[in-house]
Amino acid sequence: MSTSLLLLLDLALGALAAAAWTGAVLVATKTPSRRSGLLGTAAVAAAILAVLGQAATALALTERAWGFGVEKTLFAVPVQLVFGVLAAVLVLPALLRAARGVPWRMSRWAPAALVAAAASSVVGLVARGVLGYAISPLSAAVLVGLVLLAGWLAHALLVNRVRRQVVGASALAALLLVTSVGYSWVSDVAVAVALSDHAGPFGHGGPHGRNANEAPTAPADPAQSVSVADLRTASNAPGTLRHFELTAGHQTVTATSGKKVEAWSFGSLPGPELRVDQGDLVEVVLRNRDIDEGVTLHWHGYDVPNGEDGVAGATQDAVLPGETFTYRFTADEPGTYWYHTHQASAEGIRHGLYGTLVVLPTGGVPEQVDATIALHSFGSAVWLGDSDLPRTEPAAEGTTVRARLINTDQVPRRFRVSGADYRVVAVDGRDLSGPTDVSAESLRLPAGGRMDVVFTVTADGVRIGTDASARVAVGFGPDGSDPLKLASDASAPDLDLLSYGSRGALDAPAPTRDASLVLDRLPRFLRGVPSNAYTVNGAVFPHIQNIEVTEGDVLRLTVVNRGWDTHPMHLHGHHALVISRNGVQATGAPLWVDTFDVQPGEVWQVLVEADNPGIWMDHCHNLEHAEQGMMMALTYRGVTTPFDHEHISG
Ligand code: C2O
Ligand code: CU
Repeated sequence: MSTSLLLLLDLALGALAAAAWTGAVLVATKTPSRRSGLLGTAAVAAAILAVLGQAATALALTERAWGFGVEKTLFAVPVQLVFGVLAAVLVLPALLRAARGVPWRMSRWAPAALVAAAASSVVGLVARGVLGYAISPLSAAVLVGLVLLAGWLAHALLVNRVRRQVVGASALAALLLVTSVGYSWVSDVAVAVALSDHAGPFGHGGPHGRNANEAPTAPADPAQSVSVADLRTASNAPGTLRHFELTAGHQTVTATSGKKVEAWSFGSLPGPELRVDQGDLVEVVLRNRDIDEGVTLHWHGYDVPNGEDGVAGATQDAVLPGETFTYRFTADEPGTYWYHTHQASAEGIRHGLYGTLVVLPTGGVPEQVDATIALHSFGSAVWLGDSDLPRTEPAAEGTTVRARLINTDQVPRRFRVSGADYRVVAVDGRDLSGPTDVSAESLRLPAGGRMDVVFTVTADGVRIGTDASARVAVGFGPDGSDPLKLASDASAPDLDLLSYGSRGALDAPAPTRDASLVLDRLPRFLRGVPSNAYTVNGAVFPHIQNIEVTEGDVLRLTVVNRGWDTHPMHLHGHHALVISRNGVQATGAPLWVDTFDVQPGEVWQVLVEADNPGIWMDHCHNLEHAEQGMMMALTYRGVTTPFDHEHISG
């Protein structure tokens, strides 16, 4: 059974147990009859079975990943077993007698025990759906307290009928609830206040600047610490200087179709392609004309020195209207990348603050045509490259083409190549070894992901389409051909990169440190406002404990998705080597990615070599999710930041 189904089944069994116990309460407090004896016995039996079923699902989930089952195994199941068995022992003898038509008398504690059992199933659901992976001894104690109070309240209401006790029990339960919620609110706001005081989550060795799985470490020795502001490209860095200027501003852009886009752009849609040669020294002056939210340039997938990474609030301040910032880095890693603003990025990128970056290998690529195809949605209009219309590039039969596919949207997009077999020669700016011919499969690109595909133009031409639009496509074909007419198979399965290409002799470094990220969607306070937020390890930014490493560490990162959304997890400044997915080892070409889609119920394991000191964002590239909490950092011990985290945005 898939993990998502198992998670659903587990919730359904929890709800069933709560309903069955409630049924038992209704029956057991009735006037005794044979019928109520039978019904009551059935209800208690159903409840106990539902609890045992949860024990089984909890164990199965825990086996798939600790993060799936932890609060179930440690809390939800035990608490239901204790209160459930207690209730069953108290009421079953009487119910069974009644069922046989023998006179019976219910224990006076029965209502309390049954209500407590029902409440234990309800708090079991709360543990999964509200506390999630984050369950702490304190919150577990509060939940047990609520179960006991529910039992007491039932006793006072149904048996003792003492008004003072009813009021007392309700008041205590209310107090417990209000204090817990209030406490979470205050801790959320308290950190927000601390952040505006520049004592933020990054690199201060403070309460939030530690490893997700480890005890706090001592603050960095100030003598050995380095500021991100100093982790810049050396002023005398070698390489041919390639100077670019990008100005961000509001712009009305007329699409090829004639439609107008009210864009925020870097001068065009997409921004100008920065195409450089391996070894060049790239220098980009960013100017903000009139974007009030502020802008930055983040080199998505290009592992620049930390100070050039363009994360407002961590590596620099946002560039406000009238201001400039100059980025410099050596283009030593050939491949396909893109750039985008990293300030109010969900909104900024959606409006057009993105462009592409191509680093050509020394000597160029072997293909005759080199085309960049960045997919972007402006509302319902899908753009491939700089056009929202289908188009064909003339190419003689036999021409070799490299298409650099880029997904700049927030959700996964499938690309489909029809008319020729193709090979995937690079993923996220890293060449794949031994790529083989692909014909039927489609390519699923996570938000922010890139794939370079190579094919030879056939007599009928080749069409590249996507699942974002049935119409908009790019064709390559000789005169007289009409590749846009080629059919694309919407039911084609996705190419699995974990088993594509040849493994070769990969000696992956041995991990020196482990961390895990459990992704979920839980009710949390977000900047003081109650929200249905996206969480990592039960918390939202800036409360998520950062992963802290020392330069030279090899981090083994396990990412578990307990929710119902796909999360394209993106780590800045590093490429991660995929080890396994759902416990199955990767067997294809070594796969180095900067973004990987963790689908609902999936578990990914990747290796990250800590070889680029800094404070690096690690977040979901569905930027709406990042904005709603799913954002944290990988920090190197001893690196600090002077920048203002209050305005950090994914
Ligand atoms: Cu493409 Cu932190 O982003
Ligand atoms: Cu997400």
